[in-house]
Amino acid sequence: MPQTASHPRAKVAVLISGTGSNMAALLYASRRDDCPYEIVLVASNDPEAKGLRLAEAEGVATFALPHKGMKRAEHDAAMEEQVLASGAEYIALAGYMRILSPEFVSRWEGRMLNIHPSLLPKYKGLDTHARAIEAGDSHAGCSVHLVTAELDDGPVLGQTPVAIMPGDTPDTLAGRVLYAEHQLYSRMLEELVSRPYRADWLLEKVSELALSLPEAEPRESHGAPGWHTGGKSGKFFAHFNDQHHGEPHVAVLVKTDGPDELAALVERDPDVWFRPAYYGASGWAGLILNRPGVDWDHVRSWLERSWRSVAPKRLTSLIDAAEQF
Ligand code: GRF
Repeated sequence: MPQTASHPRAKVAVLISGTGSNMAALLYASRRDDCPYEIVLVASNDPEAKGLRLAEAEGVATFALPHKGMKRAEHDAAMEEQVLASGAEYIALAGYMRILSPEFVSRWEGRMLNIHPSLLPKYKGLDTHARAIEAGDSHAGCSVHLVTAELDDGPVLGQTPVAIMPGDTPDTLAGRVLYAEHQLYSRMLEELVSRPYRADWLLEKVSELALSLPEAEPRESHGAPGWHTGGKSGKFFAHFNDQHHGEPHVAVLVKTDGPDELAALVERDPDVWFRPAYYGASGWAGLILNRPGVDWDHVRSWLERSWRSVAPKRLTSLIDAAEQF
């Protein structure tokens, strides 16, 4: 499996409708040895899209399906089927001139991004450069954003301003903005696919889950983040480990029933569980987070179980009562 120093490359499908210069920029960036993603599919709603020929020449799988005569949801479903078959975990829209159905978008939430040729939230939609020139703006630019159901509206991951020069036409400006697009897009894609391996991002995610439990509070233990419940006389129910004691793992430690259960977990799923130094002796298990495909519902349910094992009865009975409804 091709892989960077610490984790497998994320698989990315790129959807295009035209020239595909952004797709090309993403593709050539991915040729770097340490690039954290690879392009596994280039798909288009236009079989004549120039970018498809380039992808073929570079040995990347392609797919084309004209949308004419198809319902939006039907066309989206056919595209998505190919994307899933390619094994892609992320979708990069690069000049894909289709509005996607909300169902499609919501299934890829947080894993689908787009590049738009304006400094969002300015100039959503088309003719962005003409509108920026017309408005007398000093700068145009480009934005990479996560895709949500609203057109050109999701959280912005990054932007590059591009100066508007005297005498610029929409075309001359578009040409310069493209240079900026090509630099920005691969950088933002690299950043997005690397997040699930970054300790600060994982800590934020775990923290959100841990703090959603009753009377949970953040509390440091031996200089590392942890979560505690039950007030003054309470106890820790989770600890965060960022490569402690020479371990390669970023992990959350949760309470098992004891050393036997811990040993069984590690034996059954050594990619998911490990026995942490010191804590392992009292049945704390390390749930590894810096690995591909973490199931966050699984993490959530272990945090809850761990919380239950230490929370005072007055709190667990509250949860039990709530769960009956
Ligand atoms: C780019 O300007 C991009 O920002 C917009 O569509 C254009 C696509 O160009 N969404 P290309 O096909 O990547 O050359």
